[in-house]
Amino acid sequence: MSRPLVARIRLDAFRHNYRLAKAAHGGRALAVVKANAYGHGAVECARAIADEADGFAVAMIEEALSLRAAGITAPILLLEGFFEASELLDIQVYDLWIVVHQRWQVDDLLAAHLTRPITVWLKMDSGMHRVGIAPDQYRATYERLKAHPAIAQIVLMSHFARADEPESRHMLQQVETFHAATMGIDAPVSLSNSAAILGWSGAHADWARPGIMLYGADPFVGKAGASIAERLRPVMQLEGAVISVRVISYGEPLGYGGAFVAERPTRVGVVSCGYADGYPRTAPTGTPVAVDGQLTRLIGRVSMDMLTVDLTHIPQADVGSRVELWGDQVPVNEVASRAGTIAYELLCHVKRARFEYSGQSH
Ligand SMILES: Cc1ncc(COP(=O)(O)O)c(C=O)c1O
Repeated sequence: MSRPLVARIRLDAFRHNYRLAKAAHGGRALAVVKANAYGHGAVECARAIADEADGFAVAMIEEALSLRAAGITAPILLLEGFFEASELLDIQVYDLWIVVHQRWQVDDLLAAHLTRPITVWLKMDSGMHRVGIAPDQYRATYERLKAHPAIAQIVLMSHFARADEPESRHMLQQVETFHAATMGIDAPVSLSNSAAILGWSGAHADWARPGIMLYGADPFVGKAGASIAERLRPVMQLEGAVISVRVISYGEPLGYGGAFVAERPTRVGVVSCGYADGYPRTAPTGTPVAVDGQLTRLIGRVSMDMLTVDLTHIPQADVGSRVELWGDQVPVNEVASRAGTIAYELLCHVKRARFEYSGQSH
């Protein structure tokens, strides 16, 4: 009998969310499956939509090569391009698309011995100020790349810093900056991440790049975003079990630091999940969990392999009861915001769980 901690991944929900993203945006959509598909399993997720996805996006070549090795033939975009020019060989052999976001990449690409046509996504820094070509150098960079016979296609792209803020002026400025700098260039455009797909139709273009929404989390986290987010389906159910039960009396402390002190006789369930599994240690008492389908609360400090929950009002719960840490009943966004982080971080840190996949068939 192995430790009862399971990440149930519903691939039909992933497929549903991909279709929703594509329909909400229009045009084509690259499914962002970097960081092992935000912790869900990149190969399994990519295979689940391989027959309909317009392409995939990852952060680095190793992620792309493992998708190719798994039989994924659709376009794969490296979101940060290459980190050194030696990668260009595999980029050509495995027919990968690359983001180019800084001057040295342009220089190295143009100087390389390119034997096959390459598709480049030329990234502009329209206001995020992390990576990207400056707007006033963008057109000239585009022309340099376009003049090279081995650059097959150039997609104009940028990324938003504040698309998840419903009223963001900064967001509008980024869109304006992008359009002003690219006016008159006849090439496909890609601007939108999940939040922009759901909440900013003015940023929709030829290609979308949905990430977090594919996994069923609303990027607006309950802020007045788009109603379509309500139709997203959580893909991961992180499920542990009660492994021990005890009653502590009024005034007795629980767990490390005695961070929780019983306000009344409290029936405590110990659950097979801790921060080494990816559950955030910063989640405070009161963070929701569901035990045998009933909502209750985390109590006390999360430890490495265990956490404790309040079973006082769920008398039928006992050793073996199923505990949903996040999923359908407990939104991962809710756990993340209680813990002072975002769903992205929680999902991609899920470790040590047994991954079980369902919903593969169409
Ligand atoms: C360039 C780029 N596009 C799209 C995405 C997907 O973003 P999201 O998960 O917010 O949809 C990311 C994720 O970080 C990204 O870096």
